[in-house]
Amino acid sequence: MTSEALQKARDFEAQYGPHIPDNQRPAFHLTPTIGWMNDPNGFSLYKGEYHLFYQYHPYSNEWGPMHWGHVKSRDLIRWERLPAALAPDCGYDAAGCFSGGAAEMPDGRQLLMYTGVKRGHDADGFIRDIQTQCIAIGDGVNYDKCEKNPVLTGEDLPEGGSAVDFRDPKIWREADGAYYAVIGNRTADGSGAILLYRSADGRKWEFVRTLDACHNQYGKMWECPDFFPLDGKQVLITSPQDMQPVGLEFHAGNGTLCLIGDYDPDGAGFVRQNAQAIDYGLDFYAPQTLLTPDGRRVMVAWMQNWATAGAKPYHCRWFGQYTVPRELSVRDGRLVQNPVRELEHYRGQCVAHHNIPVSGEINLPGVQGRVLDMTVTVRPIGKESYRWFRIRVAKDGEHETIIRYRPDQGTVKIDRTRSGLPHDIVHTRSFLVRPRGGEIKLRLILDRYSVEVFVNDGEQAASAVIYTRQEAGAISFEAGGAVLMDVEKYDLIFPEEA
Ligand code: FRU
Repeated sequence: MTSEALQKARDFEAQYGPHIPDNQRPAFHLTPTIGWMNDPNGFSLYKGEYHLFYQYHPYSNEWGPMHWGHVKSRDLIRWERLPAALAPDCGYDAAGCFSGGAAEMPDGRQLLMYTGVKRGHDADGFIRDIQTQCIAIGDGVNYDKCEKNPVLTGEDLPEGGSAVDFRDPKIWREADGAYYAVIGNRTADGSGAILLYRSADGRKWEFVRTLDACHNQYGKMWECPDFFPLDGKQVLITSPQDMQPVGLEFHAGNGTLCLIGDYDPDGAGFVRQNAQAIDYGLDFYAPQTLLTPDGRRVMVAWMQNWATAGAKPYHCRWFGQYTVPRELSVRDGRLVQNPVRELEHYRGQCVAHHNIPVSGEINLPGVQGRVLDMTVTVRPIGKESYRWFRIRVAKDGEHETIIRYRPDQGTVKIDRTRSGLPHDIVHTRSFLVRPRGGEIKLRLILDRYSVEVFVNDGEQAASAVIYTRQEAGAISFEAGGAVLMDVEKYDLIFPEEA
């Protein structure tokens, strides 16, 4: 049954969504039908198609009572819009249907699990939310919330767990038919943990174990977990709140954390061996993954961050974008990310330049534009090293977004100070890359409102939102010293209708 609140959201998005012209959205980064979007939810395969839901407030470009927006795709790049899937229309989720996951059921239906938020007050009259886990079952378009909701409450927490911060179930089904969920929770020490739950039928859930806990080391509350095997290792990803910087690895505020280790479900559980950030740019949070039918682990994330989410163009009708879906692997104990190979189907003609000497600033024929996939490889000339190398994109007389490499420091910096953002928020971030004898390979995925950088075949990724006017399409290359450079550039072509 479609509630009044859900019907209202569906009517609103159907009426006003089409008012946003296609050329005022990114060409291929997902945006909400209308209004506000944050975390990806329920990223999963259902009946042979990829489904993706999103934290959604259709009525304004600000966060508000959370709904679930919905899209689906055959190739992870072109998304078909579907009507909103969930609205906050029950007592237990009246303050919002927060993040969650989805899985296909053996009877052909789709199971959604999300956090229901109910608003109350503490002893001093302050607002104090209670978070529980709820389910809804449907056919890929319409979903019925379960009469037995909530299916997990504060009663199901391990000792010391807080019912105020108990959210973001990511679910999957294993070969033995059982469902599993990983859920973020605040622990007695004020930081966070990731809890594992299990269910035989998707309705009745039981606590299995705590997979890992923060102990105030990496931020505080751990949000939006995911947990999966990859290349012989086990990966636990989460988005911590209140991070403190650690060198150039983690920055202050909402961060992302990838823990790589081993998992013995019947013994020691998850034992982490390495901790790293997931994306080293400015705008990235709350990633979620799925497994493709051909066995690839693919991740998508909110290409935004809470600290920067107030900086938006005046009166924009959509706010929030997702990264291009990324294929994940583990190389030398670290997470590697590259754009899904399906993106290459949208490449137009190749413009290639090889062995171009650069000292000072140059432009290259055929290398400009705002919707493109470009790989730049830089080599030192002889023993004479170079001090820095810069790529400037989305450039005109006033604007530019700069990606800079400094071989002596081994750092890449992304700088969107002059990229059309209306507020004085953090605009630069630097990160360490692995030395390769002065060589560096930078793949840039540029869309109308963002740049994503993939360093050295995916060893690092860095994302940033930009709002530079679309006419600013020049690209230049500049070296302090002298380098040899290869450039391979493809426009990305999207027919307006699939
Ligand atoms: C992360 C988050 C989640 C929560 C959702 C609410 O960005 O805070 O923990 O479920 O956003 O919209």
